[in-house]
Amino acid sequence: MKAIIPAAGFGTRFFPASKVVPKELLPVGPRPAIQWIAEEAVAAGADEVVIVTSPGKPQLREYFSVDAAWRGRLAGKSAAEAELDRLEKLSSKIVFAEQREQRGLGHAVLQAAPQCRDAREPVLILLGDALVDGETPASVAMAERSRDSGGASVVGLERVPEERVSRYGIIAGKARTDDPRVYDLTDLVEKPKREEAPSNLAVAGRYLLSPAIFELLASQTPGQGGEIQLTDAIRRLLAFSSVLGYRYPGRRHDIGNPAGYLDCLQSFRV
Ligand code: G1P
Repeated sequence: MKAIIPAAGFGTRFFPASKVVPKELLPVGPRPAIQWIAEEAVAAGADEVVIVTSPGKPQLREYFSVDAAWRGRLAGKSAAEAELDRLEKLSSKIVFAEQREQRGLGHAVLQAAPQCRDAREPVLILLGDALVDGETPASVAMAERSRDSGGASVVGLERVPEERVSRYGIIAGKARTDDPRVYDLTDLVEKPKREEAPSNLAVAGRYLLSPAIFELLASQTPGQGGEIQLTDAIRRLLAFSSVLGYRYPGRRHDIGNPAGYLDCLQSFRV
């Protein structure tokens, strides 16, 4: 399975720290956020993780290129050596793509299309500013739901308070009677007005999408905010393919803003 982590944003909400530290590299315990996310992808079955970065963010590549000199520096420090082994193992699965213009989440995902050309099963997408805590990682649980449904696309969901629906992609769909966490999607809309939102079930940072999504993204016209929205392409996918929603267990931390990041530091189980 292929996985994509879009991580090309400028991190304006973390400026000025983001001048030198991309938000994805902010530490959560001993490891940066993106390492937790990439490890979640591997746990779910990804054998290659494409990180989509931007020309102004060389630090992400730097982090995953492990310089041999570290072996010598860490010799005899067993905890740090174990971390180095862990990082090296993960790094062998990481490749990069670049988003040269900031044209939205859908456009960022599209930049990973060349690496996913041969994908025959749904591609896992993990947003670089969402960490999910829980016994079973969100992507692992979603991959199971997808397999149970013959390889269907699955969108990770979370219930949000009504006053916050306009910050998210919101779905319309019906919960299954045999598993009320699973929804058969009938529609989804990016950042609707509160009074127009079809539900309070928000798209929450994790997606498993049919490779057909790339063709749809390539022809996707700009939507909300003038950006190429992943939500809009999923909406078109729905027209010819079944897409499930899955209210994954576990708590999502929005680490894309300083308050959410500080909250994550208090409660993320490292
Ligand atoms: C993105 C998606 C949105 C989703 C949200 C949280 O929005 O476009 O559909 O609900 O992530 O996963 P952003 O937070 O980048 O504005």
